[in-house]
Amino acid sequence: ARHLLGIKDITAEDIRLIFETADNFKDVLNRPIKKVPSLRDITIANVFFENSTRTRLSFELAEKRLSADVINFSSSGSSVKKGETLLDTVNNILAMKVDMIVMRHASPGAPHFLSRHIKANIVNAGDGTHEHPTQALLDSFSIREKLGDVAGKKVVIIGDIMHSRVALSNIFALQKLGAEVMVCGPSTLLPKHIQSLGVKVELDVRKALAWCDVANVLRIQLERQQMKYFPSLREYSLYYGIDKKLLDSLNKEITIMHPGPINRGVELSSDAADSHHSIILNQVENGVAIRMAVLYLLASKV
Ligand code: CP
Repeated sequence: ARHLLGIKDITAEDIRLIFETADNFKDVLNRPIKKVPSLRDITIANVFFENSTRTRLSFELAEKRLSADVINFSSSGSSVKKGETLLDTVNNILAMKVDMIVMRHASPGAPHFLSRHIKANIVNAGDGTHEHPTQALLDSFSIREKLGDVAGKKVVIIGDIMHSRVALSNIFALQKLGAEVMVCGPSTLLPKHIQSLGVKVELDVRKALAWCDVANVLRIQLERQQMKYFPSLREYSLYYGIDKKLLDSLNKEITIMHPGPINRGVELSSDAADSHHSIILNQVENGVAIRMAVLYLLASKV
């Protein structure tokens, strides 16, 4: 079976094919009839062991636009609460003649583990602090849409790099597509060996913004932090929070992205999140076309 487990495992060519396929689906989504019969004979289970708004809904919508049959599983309210294992849960879902699994799980490597034990296609919809491949694809697709190309662009990822699967998948995708990548945040939220991934590191958010064409701003992931957070959210907002005044002071146009959910007033003020710099809702829109492309290509075994 073919899977999308992470951006690390795929090539620049694979990403370009996903983008070209997503271009076609984006055209379809702008038509009065948004549905195509491509996955009419395919059944997909969205299996979510962690909360989600954008990823879960846009996978479901992508599947429905492709005419797949869809079932949704959320661990809260399921027999996981009675002690059923991940593998038993998924094998029971597959026994109902399901062809593909889209899975979000809090444990890094959970979809990789699954891929060694089941025959169905697996799409990783986020595994703990590890990877979130479809988010990185829709992010780079949105940069390409706004700026014409990803190659040669300077992209800074700002915030909680340590706990972010979005950061890691974005670093892989952006580098494969030829962007220059910087990470910026307090040193307590930067992994020790992050430079070994070939990224620039900047602690000063003003310098990072002055350098970049695009700033991808991340949420502080309090739910993944073992120790009491340092700095506090108030200090984080003071030193790393981005508002319209800061953007205006740069004397150049930069693009602001955020994977969501935004903690308004912490990493981004409302006047920055809702400004003309922001392509945050374009990212969400593009998520549907990107996920249609990924599911279509996996199902077609291209
Ligand atoms: N970007 C993202 O993964 O958002 P959700 O957690 O709401 O799916």
